[in-house]
Amino acid sequence: MNASLKFDDNSITVAVVGCGGFIGSHLLQAIFERTRWRVFGVDLESYRIQEHLTNPRFEFLCADLADSAVVERIAQYPVVVNLAAICTPGRYMAEAAEVIRSNYDHPRALADACAKSGSWLIHFSTSEIYGKTAAASGALLEDESEIVLGPVSASRWSYATAKLLTERYMAGLADLNWTVVRPFNFVGPFMDFMPGVDGDGIPRVLANFSTALVRGETLKLVNGGLAKRCFTSVHDAIDFIFSLFAHANAGIGQAFNVGNADNEVSIAELAQLMRSVFAAVKGVPENDVPGVETVSGEAYYGKGYDDSLRRLPSVAKAENLLGFKAKIPLQAALEESLSWFVGHYAL
Ligand code: UGA
Repeated sequence: MNASLKFDDNSITVAVVGCGGFIGSHLLQAIFERTRWRVFGVDLESYRIQEHLTNPRFEFLCADLADSAVVERIAQYPVVVNLAAICTPGRYMAEAAEVIRSNYDHPRALADACAKSGSWLIHFSTSEIYGKTAAASGALLEDESEIVLGPVSASRWSYATAKLLTERYMAGLADLNWTVVRPFNFVGPFMDFMPGVDGDGIPRVLANFSTALVRGETLKLVNGGLAKRCFTSVHDAIDFIFSLFAHANAGIGQAFNVGNADNEVSIAELAQLMRSVFAAVKGVPENDVPGVETVSGEAYYGKGYDDSLRRLPSVAKAENLLGFKAKIPLQAALEESLSWFVGHYAL
């Protein structure tokens, strides 16, 4: 991949692995709206992308990366975006082996195939590779920050270690054109699931709090809700991918944080913000909205749960190399997400 991609070039086909997921569904929509490209999409589920299944520019394959023939087929395309992963902490303890297969074995096979074919592999890693970041830690730098992980036995880190090994493997493959993306808590319509409706278990915090609000249940603050995150609108995330497409030369061989450092809040603060946004969306007094309670991490998620206390991205690299900066404020992102949640689940 020597040049940047032209959005009006109708000879380009991009492979999107995980095209039916939260980020994938937004990416498909944007590719069809902003470019003339075709998409070869792979996923095990398609309910978020029903509207695209009949689009002549879209070919959908219901499969996953466990199938080596599928991996070879994906790697025939010049640009491959890999979004497929188990990425909900609720699963890292009880399903550690499956989490490692999904976040190491499968992407490793795809990286080998892309190295052979010469495709540009844009791999979605995680902000969690920085590990058990402390409350006092500063902005995380893509190439300099130190990895800190908790007790060796805490299976919370099954995911982070698998993702990190994949990053190291990709960077070690001499012939691979790679870019690594490290998302910082993307939020927006179609994020995760509503337990008991279109998924089971504990989704990430935005979907979990949204579910509690609409069901009239208390919002659970794990270990007091002291951990901080920088919630980032999925629309900013999609703009990042387009900045990367437009600056392929600058992006190849680099890892990028993608996050909105201005949107940092503690989880306890997030709960209060979501309570007041929910009251406004439903047109009810805030006092009528469910409150919060504290739960212990191990009691809530199971033995082996651990946490990062602060995840603040340095955003300078994406700005300097790609001209990208996230813009959407937290309040607007939460209003969009909660309105969507209430409407989508018809509550
Ligand atoms: C997860 C993934 O592990 C990361 O790889 C991914 O990058 C990140 O989501 C993301 O969305 O970008 P994490 O931020 O820990 O990481 O995910 P959440 O489950 O959303 O938890 C965020 C914080 O909220 C944690 O401190 C958690 O303990 C807390 N939490 C979660 C609650 O207090 N209550 C809940 O109901 C759920």
